[in-house]
Amino acid sequence: MTRVRFLRPDGTLDREVDAPAGTNLLDLAQANGQPLEGSCEGAMACSTCHVIVAKEDFERLPPASE
Ligand code: FES
Repeated sequence: MTRVRFLRPDGTLDREVDAPAGTNLLDLAQANGQPLEGSCEGAMACSTCHVIVAKEDFERLPPASE
């Protein structure tokens, strides 16, 4: 389980949700009222998702791949 915090542009907490391993972040965000268009359905080809991952969390992610 991964805890995801959605923050407003001013940095205040909008909501916090737990997501099972393997959950698609775009799907999770849209299901929780986040205004992500998702034009390419999460294929990371359209740049309509603007997600900022905290540096300490980014460093824990596996390397990017196709
Ligand atoms: S839907 Fe996120 S980058 Fe296209």
